[in-house]
Amino acid sequence: MFKSASRRLMSSQATLALGRAPKAPSQPPKLAEKTPYPLPTSSRGVERRRLDDMHHGIARYLKQLTFAPIENPSRILELGSGTGAWSVEAARTFPSAEVIAADMSPLPETLNTLPNLTFKQMNFLEPFPFRPETFDVVHMRFVLMHLPQPDNYIHRLASLLRPGGWLLLEDVNHTLLDANRPIGPGVQALYRGYREHMHNQGVDPGVGARLKNMLETSKKFSEVNEIVIPCYMNPNSTEDLALQELGQILKYSIDGVYVGIMDKVGPTGGITPEILRGWRKEVNDPERDLRIDMHLTWSRKM
Ligand SMILES: C[S@@+](CC[C@H](N)C(=O)[O-])C[C@H]1O[C@@H](n2cnc3c(N)ncnc32)[C@H](O)[C@@H]1O
Repeated sequence: MFKSASRRLMSSQATLALGRAPKAPSQPPKLAEKTPYPLPTSSRGVERRRLDDMHHGIARYLKQLTFAPIENPSRILELGSGTGAWSVEAARTFPSAEVIAADMSPLPETLNTLPNLTFKQMNFLEPFPFRPETFDVVHMRFVLMHLPQPDNYIHRLASLLRPGGWLLLEDVNHTLLDANRPIGPGVQALYRGYREHMHNQGVDPGVGARLKNMLETSKKFSEVNEIVIPCYMNPNSTEDLALQELGQILKYSIDGVYVGIMDKVGPTGGITPEILRGWRKEVNDPERDLRIDMHLTWSRKM
């Protein structure tokens, strides 16, 4: 040990003698730096709470993990597991299945480990490290809108499934709609900057609305099902109490997305404190009827 330490010292002295600064050992770039993902890491702090709250809000609304009639799966993969909330529920619902949660961010350290749940750290922009046709279920929620060239993923995801397996692909159409009138200047300003940023990254914030068509035209599935859930930001827009609750959770969550982008990406992400104030003013305006649509799909591989 002493020998190698003194060799290191000698070599740095040699470098100094040549008049060059010693070179810091180069660190490999972190996975997150190799992706356009604009949000903070999902396994800690405010972002973890945001994702967990959103998961539990959706779970309360759906009252089930998925609408797909899944029977005795032996392998389930969740791509973009975030805080692990969905994977944990899948592992509990199907205790005899092996569940793999995959993400570039590790699962939270405090997550209770289940014997049938494992984690794989990976970047979805690179080839999947799984054997083809080995999963009964592949789930991906709120991830495709962060991946460049999202259309290419339908074939990639289908290739992981066994024939008869289920692809559960879920995303929002990140396009606020106002039932009463055109979108206000606050949301317009938000979209100008934010969408330009997303466009420059090659990702599609409106991909949720295209899921069904993408799945059908791929010709990889014997059936494609979709449910579109309107998430109302103004609780007076619906008398359905469950939808009211879901809408409030989504409103708070989307606000957290904008704050997260502002903190992580800075002004090039298209969101400034002023733009944030404009969005908040309009989303809380009782005269407005803003909503965002969530698209849940479940498709059976041929
Ligand atoms: C908005 S979060 C959704 C998390 C979870 N699916 C949920 O519904 O709560 C998106 C997740 O995708 C992961 N992610 C985004 N781009 C990725 C990439 N290129 N490779 C691996 N993971 C990625 C992020 O780390 C994050 O955990």
